[in-house]
Amino acid sequence: MSQPIPQPPGVPLLGNIFDVDPNNTWASLKKLSEKYGEIFQIKVLGHTVVFVAGAALAEEICDEKRFRKYVGGPIVEIRYAVHDALFTAFDHEASWGIAHRIIAPTLSPQALVEHFTEMRDVASELIVKWKALGNKNEVSAVGQLNRLNLEATVLTLYGKKLNCLEGPEHPMLKGMEDSTSEAMKRPTRPGLLNWLVYGSKFKTGTKTMRTFAKEMVTHRKENPTPRQDLLAALLNAKDPDTGTALTESQVIDEIVSMPIGSSTAPALLATAIYFLLRNPEVITRAREELDSVIGQGTGEFTHAHLAQLPYIEGIVRESLRLSFAAPGFNIEPIPRAGGKDKSPVLLGGGKYQVAHNQAMIVVLAGVNRDPAVFEEPLAFRPERMMGAAFEALPAGVKKWFGNGKRECIGKHWAWQWSMTTLAKLLMEVDFEMVDPDYKLEQDGWFNLRPVDFNVRVKPRAS
Ligand code: HEM
Repeated sequence: MSQPIPQPPGVPLLGNIFDVDPNNTWASLKKLSEKYGEIFQIKVLGHTVVFVAGAALAEEICDEKRFRKYVGGPIVEIRYAVHDALFTAFDHEASWGIAHRIIAPTLSPQALVEHFTEMRDVASELIVKWKALGNKNEVSAVGQLNRLNLEATVLTLYGKKLNCLEGPEHPMLKGMEDSTSEAMKRPTRPGLLNWLVYGSKFKTGTKTMRTFAKEMVTHRKENPTPRQDLLAALLNAKDPDTGTALTESQVIDEIVSMPIGSSTAPALLATAIYFLLRNPEVITRAREELDSVIGQGTGEFTHAHLAQLPYIEGIVRESLRLSFAAPGFNIEPIPRAGGKDKSPVLLGGGKYQVAHNQAMIVVLAGVNRDPAVFEEPLAFRPERMMGAAFEALPAGVKKWFGNGKRECIGKHWAWQWSMTTLAKLLMEVDFEMVDPDYKLEQDGWFNLRPVDFNVRVKPRAS
């Protein structure tokens, strides 16, 4: 006998409409996961959504023989901007495989070795800028890292120096913010309201992002280069399976999608800084590792060092776990018997059942802090993310980059950028919370960022 999936009581007719705040959906889902545990559901206007917030159930619905990515809600909305690009393609769209096969080799660990120096040197630029701030050294952690991430993304993937670390914020950052916030909110509003009141914001955000992408293409055409980067592949490569190249519009779709995906990495690092400042003994140990492997102020930091920094890697992974910087992903059952079998889908060996076509959202705030897996789940302990301890963790709690074939195509880039940037920051900068009593609060759309988290940045005391 299966048991009912827990659901907040809600209100007559409107159901659970007040249980999820459309201005901070993920904070509401985090709260619900803390209350209800491994699984819960909400119903709004007769529509049910199931949320999976436990490690074992998350692992179960990551079984690609039974389940697949559900392309719905905000992901369908953002198709307005990027159509059938990697992140937004429906399962049946051939465009996904074509783009994946063209792009993946350019984001492999081997290909990214070439971009280490660029990543390292733009981090140095930011640090030089910070060191020159003197007493006016209060900055928004995520604001600064967003700029750095855009600079690094565009330089490594499209070969263009944006110089966006200083001066007015680059318009692409607002374009991404407006488009992703709209994509999240549109499914919660009546269509007419979306069209009449919010349509122009969505349109303007999209135009900004696509104009930016077109500039990348124009810049490359005007400045021919032997660089074998992502942009070169988008413009010139053919899918090895079908011989198909991307159309002009598809190239723009993918150029826009990458910075949107990449913007999760600065959200991660800003939250990592928060956890580090709350756990100063971790900073001490990290610096011991860095100083012994790279040398304090002496040795040149090279790509080969990255593999020798297991404690820094532990910090990055533990920050991925506790920040849930990408807060979740969507799954649905694969239709059975060509769609004819409409019997319920069983979960947890029959403990729960959901409809044959039930959309489910994996809530990583629950999964990553599952007390069935982690002792003191809220404690920040990089050691549990190292070596044998990490290997022993169940697969369900390592889903910060998503799952299976639709897993993050930028995960190696994210790893390399996070490792490189964090190492540089720890080696050269002392951080201090502007408000020593600051308690972590997060918000965001496709990713979660610390809210109003300001730090003082100073050259590392010797
Ligand atoms: C810490 C940083 C990052 C995290 C935690 C993260 C997380 C994720 C997750 C969870 C997904 C799956 C989404 C889904 O199933 O709907 C995903 C997909 C994706 N990510 Fe990332 N991501 C990060 C960085 C990046 C970077 C740096 C890029 C680009 C350079 C990127 C590009 C993408 C793309 C294009 C997809 C769609 C892949 C597909 O469906 O084939 N991400 N990411």
